[in-house]
Formats: sequence, C-alpha cells, structure tokens
Amino acid sequence: MNSLDPSTLVIRRMTVEDIPAVHEIDTLSFSLPWPERSFRFEMTENPVSRGWVAEQAGQIIAMLILWLAADEAHIATIATHPNYRRQGLGEKILLVALGVARQEGARRAFLEVRAGNLAAQAMYHKYGFAVTGRRPRYYRDNAEDAILMALDELDRIGGSMNAEETLAMIAKEVSVCEKCVLHRSRKLSVPGEGPAHAEIMCIGEGPGFHENEQGRPFVGAAGNFLTELLAQAGMKREEVWIGNVVKCRPPGNRDPLPEELTACNEYLERQIAAIDPKIIITLGRFSMSKYMPGAKISAVHGQMRRIGDRFVIAMFHPAAALHQASLKPVIMKDFAQLPGLLEQANSALKHSAPVLADEKAQDDPKQLSMF
Ligand code: URA
Ligand code: SF4
Repeated sequence: MNSLDPSTLVIRRMTVEDIPAVHEIDTLSFSLPWPERSFRFEMTENPVSRGWVAEQAGQIIAMLILWLAADEAHIATIATHPNYRRQGLGEKILLVALGVARQEGARRAFLEVRAGNLAAQAMYHKYGFAVTGRRPRYYRDNAEDAILMALDELDRIGGSMNAEETLAMIAKEVSVCEKCVLHRSRKLSVPGEGPAHAEIMCIGEGPGFHENEQGRPFVGAAGNFLTELLAQAGMKREEVWIGNVVKCRPPGNRDPLPEELTACNEYLERQIAAIDPKIIITLGRFSMSKYMPGAKISAVHGQMRRIGDRFVIAMFHPAAALHQASLKPVIMKDFAQLPGLLEQANSALKHSAPVLADEKAQDDPKQLSMF
C-alpha cells in the first residue's frame, strides 16, 4: 500500500503513451479487462472518448475513460491501481473528469457498476448518482448483474473539492501539460494567480519573457501598467484573479495559434468554473474573441456585456497601450469606468434570477443597450 501525496498528484488527460500503464491497471482491477487495442481505439479514433489519468511521481495510478455524446457523459471505465486504493483517488479523478464534461456541455452522467461492488456504489451515491435499473447477468465472467446509475444534475457535482483545491490541481496539471507545442519552449508554466473567490478575473494572452521566468502572470512592464490601471479603478491587484488564455510562453512572444488556444482552453474553463467570477475582463484580442467572436476591439473596448450569469468587459491589452501611445489615454479611460460598471453588474445580478446562457441573446444588440 502506497500513500497518495497530494502535492505531487496530477490528474490530466490520458495520452497514447499512457496506454501500457493504463492497461496494466485495468488488468489488475477487472476480471474482464479491455485488450490494449481498445484503449488505443479510445485514445486515437473514438471522437466521443475522453481519457484521464492520475499520476504521482511519474507513475500512473488511476485511470478513467468517459464517452461524451450530446449532453450525456457515460463513464466507460474507471480504476485505481491496487496499491493506491481506499484513499479517495477514484473520487478525485471522477470529479475532475465530470467537471470538464460539464464544461463541455454534459448535463447528465451514467454508469454501470457490479451489483457486488458496494463500495463503488456508495461513492457514486455520495455524489448524487441514483440507481435507475439493473442489467441481469451483464458481466460475462461470473454472470453478475450490472447496476445502472445516473446523475441527472451534473451541475450539482463537485461539492467535495473547493475552489482553492480545484485551482491548485489545475496549476499542477498545467505544470506538466504537454497538450500543445508551447510546453517545449516554456521554462515555467503560468497558471494564473489570485483569490479563489475573486469577483473579477482578468484574462490576458499568454506569458511573456518575465512571466516564463517567474511562473507568475503579468509581472513585466505590461503587468506594472495593469497594476496601475487597477489601482486607478480603486482595486488592488491582489483582489482580482489574473491569468491568460495560454499558460505557456509562445516563443518570441508570437501570437498563440488556434490549436494552442483550443488545447489550453480546458484549463481556463475549469478555472472560471471554480472561481465563478461576476466579471471577466478580457485583455486584448484573444480572450475577447472567446466571448465576442468576430468583434473588433476598437469597437467594443470598455463595453460590458452580459454572458449567461456573468459580465464580460473587453479592454485593450496593457502591452498594446505601452507600444502605441495613442491607446494609453483610451485604456486609462476604460479602466476608470470600472467602478461604475461593477456597480451596474452587481445590481443587475442582484435583481435577476440566474439567466441561462442563450447564444442568440448574447448576440442581440439590445443586450448592449441595457447599459
Ligand atoms: N501579457 C499577457 O498577455 N500575459 C501576461 O501574463 C503578461 C503579459
Ligand atoms: Fe498545455 Fe496550455 Fe501549456 Fe499548451 S499552453 S502545453 S495546452 S498548459
């Protein structure tokens, strides 16, 4: 029996290289293990498949595969290495995987479990899964029944990890992430920093030279200017959460590529879900495009839009204002309006029930005239 060390535990997406270790855990755990080629199929060919592993000190110690179709997540397999059982690892990997599935649009989750595996059933119960049926003699090895369980409101899951823990886990995953080529040139990844319950998140582009050296966001000249702009709006830098759309430095500070933005987006989505800010301030084009696709920063800067139950304010990037003197008064004026916008956002949120994100409503220009 080996113990879990939360400070080196990483839960991350499964890659093809993980397959031998994953297959070994599967073989140690089940009397009907999948052949290795099934894992290979899941990782390379099945578009609805999402694989996860838990890794500690370079060793894969748990795995999970789920299938995501429309708004349903189906747990295909989940197992912990025998040496690491009964330490809550299955719950951790389940919560991370379901949390991301939720961010990808899943609203419900399903699974089958052996009728005799009461410990697993108890764990699923704890997270709100209910028994919905039974498949007689489902398991071929001993003709055991499968219990079918479903979680109808995926939104309710995740209660066991608080925002601090979730953010710390994401930072650890980012530090060893190899999902895009930017990992090759990074010195330190820059997951972002700030209070786990910040009301405001500032989202920039990506680490530059100094950020890559220090592993912290906005610590160079643009960062000093951002700190100043926040102060001018009556806010301390420490009160807001600050991060980027990509967590590793693009070589020579080039623009992040679409595939890098896509690869890294999962981390940002999970950070936003954990922090649950009222307001997101986008700094520059790349984070703006996430919320206002097709918008021109020169047209929308300084404006606030409601997106679901949050507000998004697009700002010029502080670095752009440092490079282009004419932008400096503009960005200063936009930030000076922040206190007023915050007040508007707060009272709008107080006076309305949570609004479901509605793509059409977001694009409706009438939304802008609310302010
Ligand atoms: N510019 C950014 O977009 N992000 C940083 O973290 C620093 C500079
Ligand atoms: Fe991973 Fe993001 Fe770094 Fe790419 S930029 S390696 S996706 S953390």
